[in-house]
Amino acid sequence: MNIVLMGLPGAGKGTQADKIVEKYAIPHISTGDMFRAAIKDGTELGLQAKSFMDQGALVPDEVTIGIVRERLAKPDCNTGFLLDGFPRTVPQAEALDSILTDLGKAIEHTLNIQVEKEELIARLSGRRICKTCGTSYHLIFNPPTEEGKCDKDGGELYTRADDNPETVANRLEVNMNQAQPLLDFYEAKGVLTNIDGQQDIDKVFADLDALLQGSRS
Ligand code: AP5
Ligand code: MG
Ligand code: ZN
Repeated sequence: MNIVLMGLPGAGKGTQADKIVEKYAIPHISTGDMFRAAIKDGTELGLQAKSFMDQGALVPDEVTIGIVRERLAKPDCNTGFLLDGFPRTVPQAEALDSILTDLGKAIEHTLNIQVEKEELIARLSGRRICKTCGTSYHLIFNPPTEEGKCDKDGGELYTRADDNPETVANRLEVNMNQAQPLLDFYEAKGVLTNIDGQQDIDKVFADLDALLQGSRS
């Protein structure tokens, strides 16, 4: 199953992606996670991405497209994949089409999680992430059982570097500017499915899963 999961910052892409990839046993390809891993490892890619991410700006298309092209060519993508946060611009969407054509693959589900701006701000400002496994929590909406610790492995929870109010404001503006043309691109192809992301986490997953199940026969 080949899936594209879109949504503004804080819409719940990562939260839902974790559940989908667990259920359908496909790799989770998050460009944001790939950039953060590269920054942590101090690689050339990390150096390139860091200044953009720190400002809440988008990493240039050619860099982002390059890492997705490489990742999708790996053998674990042969049984399916979930793209989280890519594409984010029309040139990225066009590049994805051509990458997939080259690989003899196609997207089966183009899903967009819709959430209002005020709610996105509330979600991002309360997000905490496990240092060990990357699971996202929220201080109010999805708190861990024990404060500051991951339910799965006891890992310490931290606040993402770009979740401060200034960077959040910029991320939302930058992503909102790109989102409509991108959604129009997929709408014009007749493949876009919008999901109401403003429900609780399990309900959003139930809606997504129903769509994915519908295609399984
Ligand atoms: P990326 O890491 O993708 O960040 P983002 O798009 O800003 O999205 P987030 O990860 O912040 O939100 P999410 O939708 O995953 O929400 P989550 O599930 O965590 O990208 C980071 C940066 O990398 C970009 O700014 C850019 O610089 C660069 N980049 C990445 N991809 C790029 C690309 N394609 N092109 C160019 N640059 C790129 O949930 C958020 C919070 O809400 C959590 O606390 C969670 O517990 C809570 N929550 C989730 N669902 C619900 C719910 N239903 N109800 C209540 N709370 C909820
Ligand atoms: Mg995410
Ligand atoms: Zn953890």
